[in-house]
Amino acid sequence: MSKSLNLRYMRTGDIPQVVAIDNQSFNPPWSARSYAYEVSESSYSHMVVLEDTNGASPVNGLRRFLQPWARPGGMIVGYGGLWYIAGEGHISTIAAHPDYRGQGYGEILLAAMVRRAITLQAEYIVLEVRVSNFVAQNLYEKYEFQIVGTKPNYYRADNEDAYDMRLDLADEAMIARFDQRFAEVCAQQQFIDQYTDLPSPKQKSS
Ligand SMILES: CC(C)(COP(=O)(O)OP(=O)(O)OC[C@H]1O[C@@H](n2cnc3c(N)ncnc32)[C@H](O)[C@@H]1OP(=O)(O)O)[C@@H](O)C(=O)NCCC(=O)NCCS
Repeated sequence: MSKSLNLRYMRTGDIPQVVAIDNQSFNPPWSARSYAYEVSESSYSHMVVLEDTNGASPVNGLRRFLQPWARPGGMIVGYGGLWYIAGEGHISTIAAHPDYRGQGYGEILLAAMVRRAITLQAEYIVLEVRVSNFVAQNLYEKYEFQIVGTKPNYYRADNEDAYDMRLDLADEAMIARFDQRFAEVCAQQQFIDQYTDLPSPKQKSS
């Protein structure tokens, strides 16, 4: 079956799939409760998922049994988190499903969060990344993030250092390059965008 990609705000019903990906992607992972807070409570948070609506959700079977009223969902192939506070954007997390890496999904998610930050009128975006995480650093550098510092022993699980990376959004030429790149990504992947221009619909349940 062909894929049909939908970029949209994360819902509470997505959290089991998101946590499953998170557990395979981060040490330590975020808890389901942390995601629930980001989705339902935090007014700073703009959580995003990329969903293949033709893909079968691995939790649909059990969920339909336990919650027969719940909407059946597609397969979450990646997700990300953007915080926006007083002119600062902060990429809090980003991951692609381990079985679907290298297919451009991480790039869609990063580009979408940069675009959302621009539409929120952020002045700059920051993030932290493990010094050993060359794949993620490559992705960020492709979008012109620059290393601006180091946080020693930032990751408490193993004391690895983090690089601080930053993208300045004041540069009009950079924004023009970004717009061009975002248009190319949209043309290549053909996803429905229900995220980059829309306000976050805070919800208590899906
Ligand atoms: C980082 C991550 C989100 C990238 O997602 P992805 O869907 O695999 O990446 P994409 O296919 O969209 O690739 C986008 C860019 O990432 C970089 N990249 C992706 N895979 C790479 C690899 N195997 N080696 C080097 N660079 C790579 C490249 O710059 C690539 O652009 P290109 O295709 O023009 O070369 C994914 O590897 C992931 O989920 N990692 C685990 C979680 C994580 O480390 N998150 C970052 C926390 S700071």
